[in-house]
Amino acid sequence: MDFTLTEEQQMIQQAARDFAQAELLPGVIERDEKQEFPARQVQKMGELGFMGMMVDPTYGGSGMDTLSYVLVMEELSKVDASASVVVSVNNSLVCWGLETYGTPEQKEKYLKRLATGEIIGAFCLSEPEAGSDATSQKTTAIDKGDHYVLNGTKNWITNGSTASVYLVIAQTDVEKGHKGINALIVEKGMAGFEIGPKEQKMGIRGSDTHSLMFNDVKVPKENRIGEDGFGFKFAMKTLAGGRIGIAAQALGIAAGAYELALKYSRERKAFGTEIANHQAVAFKLADMHTQIEAARCLVYKAAIDKDQGGNYDLSGAMAKLYASQVAMDTAIEAVQIHGGNGYVKEYHVERLMRDAKITQIYEGTSEIQKIVISRSILQK
Ligand code: CAA
Ligand code: FAD
Repeated sequence: MDFTLTEEQQMIQQAARDFAQAELLPGVIERDEKQEFPARQVQKMGELGFMGMMVDPTYGGSGMDTLSYVLVMEELSKVDASASVVVSVNNSLVCWGLETYGTPEQKEKYLKRLATGEIIGAFCLSEPEAGSDATSQKTTAIDKGDHYVLNGTKNWITNGSTASVYLVIAQTDVEKGHKGINALIVEKGMAGFEIGPKEQKMGIRGSDTHSLMFNDVKVPKENRIGEDGFGFKFAMKTLAGGRIGIAAQALGIAAGAYELALKYSRERKAFGTEIANHQAVAFKLADMHTQIEAARCLVYKAAIDKDQGGNYDLSGAMAKLYASQVAMDTAIEAVQIHGGNGYVKEYHVERLMRDAKITQIYEGTSEIQKIVISRSILQK
């Protein structure tokens, strides 16, 4: 597989790198401390075309490939994973699903504004009692002829309060199990739709995570995505691509922590020499570098599989499983290399360590990725 980047891919990578340094780095510590959503930065990312990277230009997108998208995700995540998850959800979970399965009217009405970043979207699958076990949906969408009546609660929804458009997965026909699930487009402000308080989180604290409550919300039939009963497959197919974005986020967190540790180890002196000259530190750097490169190969391969129309369920799950472990391991070692300073906010690595953890949990925990991978290799 050829990982050589085209000129265009190198340019977008550089643009994201420059943006992260100029716009995300200033204030990243304060936003984390105050759990402040990066609103101004998200608006600018929209202007740069980062919010609808793979969407066709007809619908306001940048018309780029998945590899370009992961390059951007990696660069943004080196500096601010709270900002990058907004990009990931909007691109992979909202725009992609709408562009691939939406009607021309849905695309006209919602996708155009989502792809330009004028508004942002949210993807609502998880519930208090249906996280990994996603088919156990308790939220109901009862068919009333020309509309559905939506009732239930969604948990931990990224962009929970800042989104304008929510893709909500709900059970229409319990008898049919996962084949009785639908995906509905819900707008903020629809009567009976309430947003719960912001979750107080360990990491990605700038990202706004909320529970959502639906109480007899009338959703027009034309807001259903795909055929009746397509909702669970819609969620799975969408998540297969989403996992590539989160894998790239994990890769970026790892690479960001590594770059900081490398720089610090060349500057900090102990026992009369730079700590990089102590083999125990140099070996940590060697492990980090090797694992990050391996993670990068898996992430790029999954992106290329998607771009080439291949099966990316397996490669995306492997990329997320491995890259999220590398993010966690690398961030922990980056804190160690920083010694006491690693424990202090101004050196950034403690935040990267807290941010790394979520990549092993959302869009399918590591255990769920192993279920996907093992079923694929065992052909179950
Ligand atoms: N593509 C298409 N269809 C798929 C599919 C895929 N990738 N994966 C499963 N399906 C289909 C199956 O074929 C099956 O349909 P049929 O009966 O017609 O064949 C149906 O879906 C049910 O599949 P399973 O029997 O495999 O279902 P399961 O109960 O064993 O669960 C699972 C499978 C992979 C564990 C799934 O429940 C899962 O992915 N769980 C994790 C949920 C998750 O990732 N949530 C993330 C929420 S979003 C988020 O987190 C965003 C964020 O943080 C930013
Ligand atoms: P559980 O399913 O209760 O799992 C608990 C533990 O048991 C985990 O370690 C899990 O791996 C393990 N486990 C469960 N089943 C199995 C099994 N069969 N085999 C082995 N181990 C198993 N969801 C959305 O829909 N949209 C969002 O935008 C979104 N954003 C999120 C943002 C944040 C910050 C967080 C924390 C979560 C977000 N989620 C979102 C929810 C996230 O996807 C779920 O938390 C995740 O899928 C796990 O579900 P759960 O928390 O219910 O854990």
